[in-house]
Amino acid sequence: MSRSLKYEIPGIDPRVAFDEWAEKGWASVFGTAAHGDRPKRVLEIGFGRGEFLLAMAASAPEVEFVGIEVSYKRTLKMARKVARAGFSNVRLVEARAEEAIQHLAGPGTLDQIWINFSDPWPKRRQGHRRVIQRNFVGDAAVALASNGHFYVATDDVPYAHQMNEVFSAEPRLENAYAPWPFLPEVPGRGQTGYEEQWRAAGRPMHFFSHRSRGAGNGTTNE
Ligand SMILES: C[S@@+](CC[C@H](N)C(=O)[O-])C[C@H]1O[C@@H](n2cnc3c(N)ncnc32)[C@H](O)[C@@H]1O
Repeated sequence: MSRSLKYEIPGIDPRVAFDEWAEKGWASVFGTAAHGDRPKRVLEIGFGRGEFLLAMAASAPEVEFVGIEVSYKRTLKMARKVARAGFSNVRLVEARAEEAIQHLAGPGTLDQIWINFSDPWPKRRQGHRRVIQRNFVGDAAVALASNGHFYVATDDVPYAHQMNEVFSAEPRLENAYAPWPFLPEVPGRGQTGYEEQWRAAGRPMHFFSHRSRGAGNGTTNE
């Protein structure tokens, strides 16, 4: 028998509807000033069970974190965890990465984007479903503030090759790990839920880090 979902949120619900967010904008959703020094902004896409986002939010209460997830169930479960922890610096949006990156952050307004162990869709006919594609990475590069970082991790070798090709072709980003395309280990980096599973299964790790060159990204204040 499957366990039923608990819908009530034990505290303030951190979820924001996509349309509401797109209309209000980041500063208004968080209730922070749209002028002067804005808080650092971090986006995690496909947070899954949320371990990584929760750890980041706990360690940096002054930073504004937004988690994007396509799964309703995962967003709901994460909303319960965020509310239970009492984090006021986290918002969650149930959305597809591809739409979120275009509509939830203005040009040059994100300090970090994280995508950990994004589904590799190994069958050739499913390849178009992978999140890391040329247009998506281009949109992410536009959303990054000058010197902002885009971090991606995967255990899948063919997907890692595709990531390398896509990142290498994006002129607005530079490889922070050059001359290596990725690192197999990053000291001090927290682990995600899937990462624990893949490490236990002996799968190889690929950690990418790309920095915005800052050219043509527009303003850094929303
Ligand atoms: C393999 S899991 C990894 C979860 C987590 N990042 C981790 O490392 O433990 C991939 C997650 O990305 C979400 N996802 C897949 N495609 C997505 C998309 N286009 N936009 C947003 N989330 C997506 C899935 O629902 C799933 O939770």
